[in-house]
Amino acid sequence: MKDLEKIIGILKQRGFIYQSQEIYGGLRGVYDYGPLGVLLKNKVKNLWLKDIVFQRENIFLIESSILGLRKTYEASGHLEHFHDPLIECKSCHQRFRADHLLGGEYGEIKFKEGKALCPFCQGELTEERTFNLMFKTYIGPVEELAAEAYLRPETAQGMFYNFKNILNSMRPKLPFGIAQIGKAFRNEITPKNFLFRLREFEQMELEFFVKPEEAEKWFNFWVEERFNWYLKLGFKKENLKKYIYPKEELAHYSDATIDIQYNYPFGFKELEGIANRTNYDLRRHSEYSGEDLTYFDEEKKEKYYPYVIEPSVGIDRLLFAIFVEFYDEDEIDQEKRNVFRFPPFLAPIEVAVFPLLSNREVLVKKSREVYNLVKKDFIALYDDSGSIGKRYRRQDEIGTPFCLTIDFQTLEDNTLTIRDRDTTEQVRIKIEEIKDFLKDKLRWAGEDSNL
Ligand code: GAP
Repeated sequence: MKDLEKIIGILKQRGFIYQSQEIYGGLRGVYDYGPLGVLLKNKVKNLWLKDIVFQRENIFLIESSILGLRKTYEASGHLEHFHDPLIECKSCHQRFRADHLLGGEYGEIKFKEGKALCPFCQGELTEERTFNLMFKTYIGPVEELAAEAYLRPETAQGMFYNFKNILNSMRPKLPFGIAQIGKAFRNEITPKNFLFRLREFEQMELEFFVKPEEAEKWFNFWVEERFNWYLKLGFKKENLKKYIYPKEELAHYSDATIDIQYNYPFGFKELEGIANRTNYDLRRHSEYSGEDLTYFDEEKKEKYYPYVIEPSVGIDRLLFAIFVEFYDEDEIDQEKRNVFRFPPFLAPIEVAVFPLLSNREVLVKKSREVYNLVKKDFIALYDDSGSIGKRYRRQDEIGTPFCLTIDFQTLEDNTLTIRDRDTTEQVRIKIEEIKDFLKDKLRWAGEDSNL
């Protein structure tokens, strides 16, 4: 079992993830990404875009607003259905999700006269009440019903209320998709487990519109596509599972949902959900807006609401899985080493450049030349502080797959050593060959794999 606290410590210390506004005590359920975290996040987004959007002809990328009208979320059903059961302790005022409390997430609960007691202070608990998860705000200075607005709880609604715009501007034929990456907000009662359950997070969602009679086929197609994408990212198959939702657990819009679960340190939990949302959203937005959101099928010569298959994943939850999956500890020269074994195409820093000795002007000058060369094509870092061994360890700890070291031989024959993070082996290579070498090693084979 990997030590989560240790991993979180490294992520903070090395500039991946910080608790948001920590200097004021921290904002619970909200995290900030440091320089390395942002680099990694962007890589993940790009790999998703490559796989979902750019490799396919019929998927359109949009970016819709975060602020949404009350009407939009009446239509989507979120105002009516998007809530959790809330229980509060009458003594310490700690709040819980009833299903989490009774489901064992707080250990064994004590009961008095048949009623559960607070797991922290054994105080009496309130009756269960519903708590809407959306963040509400007001547009303009007057706080009235007509000005009510909501931060989106999913990016999906932007794809539905723009459906007609896409039909008119892009003229797609079924099946086709609308994709989006963006922030979503949920006022979770108990945000917890690091990046797993957040109040502010980012989603990568695809709404794939299909003929109703083909919904099941496309649902199965996307479950397999998405499962295989994680394998192509380098996840071990045994750390992934599919979970089929029983009918009574489905979201208000869904007819069928399968989760891809990851083996987090607290057990297998949802990483991505693939849902058959039927024609629920388009139908509801048509009803509430009065706009015709049907599709005209030229072959059949008829109008209907397409069904939609939705693969949806939270990037933060995915990064959490990546940190757990690729973190490792080993021993090099009888010294313990922390290492992120990210596949090279995922590594936030792709290559580091060092002079063997930082106090030799000629080596520093040559190293700077090499750094300037590689940073044109790769995400590179220059480091000349501390011993060479310490520099290697620092790069191992942030997952840099390759380190280039410039030594005295470099000045004679224009070769340098390239060190492999995983094997720690060093080989000599000509400077003019570095670019091709790195290009080859950093390529994501996922795009041409038949998985
Ligand atoms: N549009 C469908 C939808 O939003 P969901 O299962 O509620 O469905 C989709 O969310 C994905 O978003 C989840 O699989 C998860 O990866 C991520 N997600 C949901 N709630 C989250 C939260 N509070 N914190 C972090 N990620 C979350």
